[in-house]
Amino acid sequence: MSLTMEERNITPSEAYPGDKTTTKAAEPELLKVEITGDRYTSKEFKDQEWAHMWRRVWMIAGMADDCAEPGDFFTCDLGHEPLLFVRGKDGINGFYNICQHRGAKLVLQDKGTMDSFSCIYHGWKYGLEGELVEAQDRDDFERDPCEHVRLADFRTEIFAGFVWYCLDDDAPGLDDFLGDMKEQLESWQLNDGFRVEHFTVELPCNWKVVIDNFQEGYHIRTLHPQLMETVNENKESVQYDLYDGGHSRMILLGCDPSPNFQPQNTLPDSITHMLTKWDINPEEYKDRHGEIRPALQQTKREKSAERGKDFSHLSDAQLTDNFLYDLFPSCALSVYPEGEYVWLLRSRPHPDDPEKCLFDYWTIAKFPEGEDTLYWEHMDMTLTRDAEIEHKQFKWGEESISFGIDQDVDIAPIVQQGMRSHGFKKAILCHQERRVQFLHDNIDRYIKGDLGR
Ligand code: FES
Ligand SMILES: [Fe+2]
Repeated sequence: MSLTMEERNITPSEAYPGDKTTTKAAEPELLKVEITGDRYTSKEFKDQEWAHMWRRVWMIAGMADDCAEPGDFFTCDLGHEPLLFVRGKDGINGFYNICQHRGAKLVLQDKGTMDSFSCIYHGWKYGLEGELVEAQDRDDFERDPCEHVRLADFRTEIFAGFVWYCLDDDAPGLDDFLGDMKEQLESWQLNDGFRVEHFTVELPCNWKVVIDNFQEGYHIRTLHPQLMETVNENKESVQYDLYDGGHSRMILLGCDPSPNFQPQNTLPDSITHMLTKWDINPEEYKDRHGEIRPALQQTKREKSAERGKDFSHLSDAQLTDNFLYDLFPSCALSVYPEGEYVWLLRSRPHPDDPEKCLFDYWTIAKFPEGEDTLYWEHMDMTLTRDAEIEHKQFKWGEESISFGIDQDVDIAPIVQQGMRSHGFKKAILCHQERRVQFLHDNIDRYIKGDLGR
């Protein structure tokens, strides 16, 4: 019997009462700060964000795998701060990537393995724990610098397969910062994910234009009509959760062609592939779209053992639905069914210009035991495990990232133009865009010192 429209428009927490992975968070009172153009253009606002927010939040630096052995290191920037992460004898050390002699940037490579780091300017050399081990003409200094100089450090943690860091020692620890997010990320068991794509793109827009976009499903029908083949973006069906600390979540019913998808009595290729992969006859579901999702969940459970997959840690919703987390302030983690793929979509502030940002795009895949390739229906692409993936870095417009992400990224400069205009007063948000409001409310909470203390 086909599901009625009302039955299709049920949110995950309504469909699975008592399931901890989809529990609806209580709706907080929103501050409703006005989202005006100057938040995206003004140097003063950018400076306030830096002083009160960026230094106090925990950010993902890279994959723990990239720092697995002593001496393995990688570098990245946050705003104007160059940062160095290196595996030392007891874990991963985080250092400002700055020589203590006269301040030259110390490590110029993206990543690698070293037993020490030498500054190219006057040759000061540092060990893996940040200690200065050699300095030219050390007897020429009033006091031997090797006796007291170290690289400046900050806190790091490893969690969910990522290296995390926070630049302010007085800010709360990672567990407090993540709050409810910690258990949610743990539920996916992401530790064995492998990064297969790594892009950093300089975009001509403020960092918030990018991350505002990943807070809502309202734009799917217009910007990504192809997604209606596989996800139910109808406003009644998408679940939005707002959490303490400024984090939030959006759950989109997956393997569930949108009621807005036409024609309703055909099956998109992506769904046909999903069904065939699990030995379900697609013909039976041509005009029963609402039944695909529960059928897939049931079959995945029944056949997981024979397919060599362990789904025991996942809920039914996690077998089919798309979970999009926002880790405050700017890291969207889009986790696909079974946790098989994760997208990290993250913006970082530009060092100087409030009207530019750096957009990071990572794809993380879980390869089945013993296999090095994986076909991804959603993106219609085959992913390959390769330890030496290239970190592609370019400016917007020079290269494509991928079809779906280009759609999100290409709208950003168009929005930024509006932020400068006298004709734009403030954003007018609908209920399904309340994560955007929540993000801006919490930026203001940080700036006022009400959060992150
Ligand atoms: S600035 Fe590094 S050795 Fe002089
Ligand atoms: Fe989008």
